[in-house]
Amino acid sequence: MLTSFRIKYEWEIVHMRSEVRELARTIGFDEVDQARIVQSLSELARNVIQHADEGIIEVEQIETEEKRGLRFIVRDLGPGIENLTEFMMHMKNKSIGETSGLQQVQLLMDELTIHKLEQGTSVEVTKWLKQVPLGSE
Ligand SMILES: Nc1ncnc2c1ncn2[C@@H]1O[C@H](COP(=O)(O)OP(=O)(O)OP(=O)(O)O)[C@@H](O)[C@H]1O
Ligand SMILES: [Mg+2]
Repeated sequence: MLTSFRIKYEWEIVHMRSEVRELARTIGFDEVDQARIVQSLSELARNVIQHADEGIIEVEQIETEEKRGLRFIVRDLGPGIENLTEFMMHMKNKSIGETSGLQQVQLLMDELTIHKLEQGTSVEVTKWLKQVPLGSE
């Protein structure tokens, strides 16, 4: 794990935003992707404060044979998302006019998974670095 952030108060979101932006920049994300990541993490942190009171964001650098990226795990001990299975099916339905916070996160990030914990919720989001074509380095 690279780092983690506790999320309970609004100022902790402000702090997390600037740290995450800097981290994403260091790892090589361009400004647009930095903004997508920061926006997504703000939405998830806001959900923690609004729907679960407090939580934690863990940041991991991930790597497969072909790609590298950042993964964020946002966990809380709140009441959990009601009817999670239905909710996730509904999220996939992109035809609905107004997009909610989590739907926006899904559009901004490359991967989003939501798990129901014994107590609380865990939302994992991943952003991959754009592939550098061979020969351009
Ligand atoms: N961490 C969480 N713990 C418990 N319930 C949650 C959590 N995150 C989301 N939810 C539930 O899922 C619903 C959808 O979340 P989503 O962020 O998409 O919309 P919202 O928070 O209601 O509104 P907004 O569009 O302003 O974000 C919420 O209304 C809430 O009931
Ligand atoms: Mg929300």
